[in-house]
Amino acid sequence: MKITEKISLKPFNTFGVESAARYFSTFASAEELKTLLTEEKFKELPKLVLGGGSNILLCADFEGLVLKNELKGIELVSEDAKHVFLKAGSGEVWQDLVEFCISRNYAGIENLSLIPGTVGAGPLQNIGAYGAELKDVFFQLEALSLKDLSLQLFSLTDCRFGYRNSVFKQELRGKYIILSVTLRLNKMPQLNTSYGAIEKELERMGVKEKSIQAISKAVISIRRSKLPDPQTIGNAGSFFKNPEISREDYLLLKGNFAELVAYPLEDGSFKLAAGWMIEQCGWKGKRFGDAGVHVNQALVLVNYGKASGQNILDLSEKIIASVKEKFGLSLEREVNTI
Ligand code: EPU
Repeated sequence: MKITEKISLKPFNTFGVESAARYFSTFASAEELKTLLTEEKFKELPKLVLGGGSNILLCADFEGLVLKNELKGIELVSEDAKHVFLKAGSGEVWQDLVEFCISRNYAGIENLSLIPGTVGAGPLQNIGAYGAELKDVFFQLEALSLKDLSLQLFSLTDCRFGYRNSVFKQELRGKYIILSVTLRLNKMPQLNTSYGAIEKELERMGVKEKSIQAISKAVISIRRSKLPDPQTIGNAGSFFKNPEISREDYLLLKGNFAELVAYPLEDGSFKLAAGWMIEQCGWKGKRFGDAGVHVNQALVLVNYGKASGQNILDLSEKIIASVKEKFGLSLEREVNTI
């Protein structure tokens, strides 16, 4: 645990934007975290916990204490005939946990392969991809209260998961730091290939017998073909959420835009493909200086090198305005702006 002053956060955010932190420290245990939080000189300062920095847009310097999460460890805590319960430190890299499970045949997170970021970010925004969401395998998490430094357990219902949403993005925003996450995984895989692109990819790969290993490979291949690798081009995955609208609003919109891409939800409402709408507004592949809209996926904003967080935020504002004008809908950002 070493506190550094005036450090560049460029290596710590996948957008690769420049931003300076006044103070920076890692923490590798709950005790280290508590020590940092109770230190007199940091008491009144804003705090920012960073995991993989893969869902954040830094639009200015951070005049506070950045806490880089290095809580590691994956542990099998219990099992029954059908399940294993795995507890992972919130600072573990998500993909390392996925590989840990795939190599042991623990099923449930193979569709979530290659999502950038750390385990702790999973419940924060209920990460999801290719027909699966974290909530499907979530058991509980342990978090530290910033108010009184007590440790608290949150169950599935406590977390109030929704689409890219949880209680930690709503009323408990900024009030807790997630320390560990326990998942309930299946010993007997129930394969989920409901997302059309997976079946197509398995066929293309010539897979005869489906398995969690094959699904993981298919998902990785689809992601690589559509989504830019943050190591090469700065980005934070989908920049906006796909809007959810009522059946009436959907039918009205569909009347005006016959090609509208939408998916029915269980409650009768519809989820719209925001990437399609952004593409229809002419943004796909556009570049303004070093800020741009990805060539293969219009929902993803990218930094080609020297764009600032503000440049990317400005571009997102223009996109929101043009989608509003054409489709009458306000896109919401998925990425957290600081
Ligand atoms: N589409 C276009 N043009 C585009 C992009 C998309 O027409 O430029 C249309 C296509 O018809 C496509 C449909 O939109 O079939 C859906 O696109 P895609 O399958 O790429 O998924 P998405 O809705 O754009 C969501 C998640 C992704 C996740 C994929 C796969 C959100 C905000 N994003 O994207 O999650 O990987 O589904 O499940 O829900 C992330 O959250 O960072 C992320 C990458």
